[in-house]
Formats: sequence, C-alpha cells, structure tokens
Amino acid sequence: MPVEITNLSGQDLRLSWLKEKLAKTLEFLGLADREVHLLLVDDQEITRLNMLYLGRPYPTNVISFSQREGISPKEQVKHLGDIVISLDTALREAKEYGLPKKHYLLSLAIHGLLHLLGYDHEKGAYAAELMVKNEKRLLEKLLGPHGQKLVKFVQRREYMPAKLAVNVDHVATVREARKVNYPDPVHAAVLVELAGAHGVVVHLREDRRHIQDRDVRIIREIVKTKLVLEMAATEEMINIAKEIKPDQVTLVPERRQEITTEGGLKVKGRIAKVRQAVEELKEAGLKVSIFIDPDPEQLKAAAKTGADIVELHTGHYAEAPGPEEMDLELTRLEEAARVAKDLGFEVHAGHGLHYGNISPVAAIPEIEEFSIGHAIVARAIMVGMEKAVREMLCLIEKAR
Ligand code: PXP
Repeated sequence: MPVEITNLSGQDLRLSWLKEKLAKTLEFLGLADREVHLLLVDDQEITRLNMLYLGRPYPTNVISFSQREGISPKEQVKHLGDIVISLDTALREAKEYGLPKKHYLLSLAIHGLLHLLGYDHEKGAYAAELMVKNEKRLLEKLLGPHGQKLVKFVQRREYMPAKLAVNVDHVATVREARKVNYPDPVHAAVLVELAGAHGVVVHLREDRRHIQDRDVRIIREIVKTKLVLEMAATEEMINIAKEIKPDQVTLVPERRQEITTEGGLKVKGRIAKVRQAVEELKEAGLKVSIFIDPDPEQLKAAAKTGADIVELHTGHYAEAPGPEEMDLELTRLEEAARVAKDLGFEVHAGHGLHYGNISPVAAIPEIEEFSIGHAIVARAIMVGMEKAVREMLCLIEKAR
C-alpha cells in the first residue's frame, strides 16, 4: 500500500480520491515502490507538533517528517516519511482562497511530499522556484483543466521570497545637519549591499535637503544590485533620471513643506499627465514604479499609465492609532496587493515600516519588494548598518 491515510481530525471526510491521487503522484515521480503516510489532525495537534519540532507556537497547514533525514543520499528508504495536515486549517484556508476542498488538500499533501523528498522552499529563492515548479507540474498532471484555479493559486502565492531595497536618504540627513562630508550615503550603500539587501534607494528631492546630485551619481557607479531613484515627475528630475539611468524610477508626490512623502501619487483624474512622465522614462529604458495609496480606484487609474510597478503606500498602516485601525489598513493593503497583481503590476510596498510592524505586511504574498529607510538607518546608528539590514531581511524572510 504506497499511500496510507489516518484521519485523527475528528471530521468525517471521504479520502479515497486523495489516496488515489497521491499514489499517482508517487508514480509520476518514479517512486511507485515507496510508501508515504498521511496523517490528518486538528489545529490543537498540529500546534503541538509545530511547537515541539519547529519552535512555532501556532497552527499551520502541513508539516512533513522525513525518514530520509540523516541517511546518505545513496541509501534508499521504502517509507519516505509522514505528512501531517491540520484539517481545520486546510478547510479554513480552502474556503478563504475559494478553492475546492479536495484540490487544496491534495496541494498541501504534494507540498508535504516534496518536502519529504528534500525540496525546501525556505532554503532560498531558487529552491522555492524549483519547489513551486514541481508542485505546479504535478497538479497539472493530476487535475488537468479542472485544476487551473489551484495551479494559478500555487504559482501566485507560494513562497515568493520578498526583496528589500534600503533607502539611505537619512544617512545624508545626518551629513546635511552639519553640512560636512560625513556620514556618506555612498558608504552606506556599500554596506547595505554587503548585508544582502536587494537594492539601494535614494530620493533626490527638489530642495536637495538630504541626497545631493553627487550622491546619486556615485551610488549609480557602485551599486551592483539595483538603484532606485525616487523623484517627483518634474522636467528637471526626468532629465536627471534619463542621464543617470537608475535601474528603477519611483514617482512620488512632493511638497516642499512636508517632513517626508505624505501620501501616494494621485493618478485618478491625472492619468494623461502621469502617463506622459512614465512614457518618457520608459523610452529612456527605465523601469517605472508609481508610489500609490492602497486604493483600487487609484490602482485602476495607474494601470492606464504604462507603469511597470506600483509601490503601495504603507504610511496609513504604520501610523494607525490603534490595533483595530491597523488591522483595517492591513486589510486595505492585502486587497490592494491582490488588485494590483491582477492588473499586471509588480507589487512593492513601503513607507513608515519598521522592525515592529513589518511582519504582517511582509506576509502579504503579492508584495515582492519592500522599500525601507528611516527605521533601518535609525537602527544602524545603534548596531551598525550591516546588522540593521540583516535583522530586517530576517524578519521579512520569516514572515513569508
Ligand atoms: N517609499 C517611498 C516612495 C518613500 O518616499 C519613502 C520615504 O522616502 C520610503 C518608501 C521609505 O520610507 P521610510 O523612510 O519611512 O522607511
């Protein structure tokens, strides 16, 4: 019996379909002679296992226990291991995602099986890609056209590691406080990259209150990941961007009196104007992002500008006066991220994010990149730039 299923969840469920599909999965993988045990439990039991083996005191959907651990890759084991699924979580999630229950259960079981075989999406971006590729391939084979919705879901949400682009403006703010030549944001950009960040961000403001033209030019020369130039859509800035050629331009609204960027760019009602700026930058070969409030109306307008990316403004979430308002803002961000992705945008987010509020936002699967400045520079003063960046990367990674 290659697949054995034990249902300890207390819920009644017909399992013959799942058993048959899992046996087929083993066949497709060339492992028809191996065995796997699927255990269905409730949330209480999976929380106990999650805590005991992974140190995580909360329920999860699936955990795998491999029999191959500690065994040389050459040795063959007949029993691949145990896959434990919480039926409470699985059914709740299936409902939330609008997926057929049995399809979703199958996808969790396959996910667990791939873990048993050594695939691990937590090992890095390529490992995650490989795992998703295999899950998709198996689900397509097993479900045919009926599984389209599930396959799309797996592709869209699973284990997309999020990136971190670090804004070094406030290193320049400290320098400009004394009008000296230190600390240098160029130095900060080097440290940010050495710490593993995926990009460096600078905002060249019209009033040059922190970042100077010289900073952008030198940082352009030394950045190896990507340089993001935040700027207002003015003629002066567009010309600078065309000359310096950052890897990405993020268009933001700018007012001289503001302490920092106060809201997203208003695109609705100004589509033609924004589109003109986007087109000019794209003609110069630049990737263009628009910083925008998490508002479906603004997003729909943004979709008519030709921008490649939207950066969702997280300021309202970060500044929410209490937990209820914060939760409401988080829901707005989640919905906006889904709408943005459906409109074909690459989705980023930023503003006001710090070590204490990043985790819930970092768990939004559609968001591919976070742009964070003030909190990281502030922490860097205390613990050093590399440590400050690594700590933030770690929080983002853990939330996915
Ligand atoms: N994203 C955009 C578009 C911004 O204007 C800023 C601030 O310059 C940030 C992200 C970073 O915000 P914070 O410094 O609060 O992390």
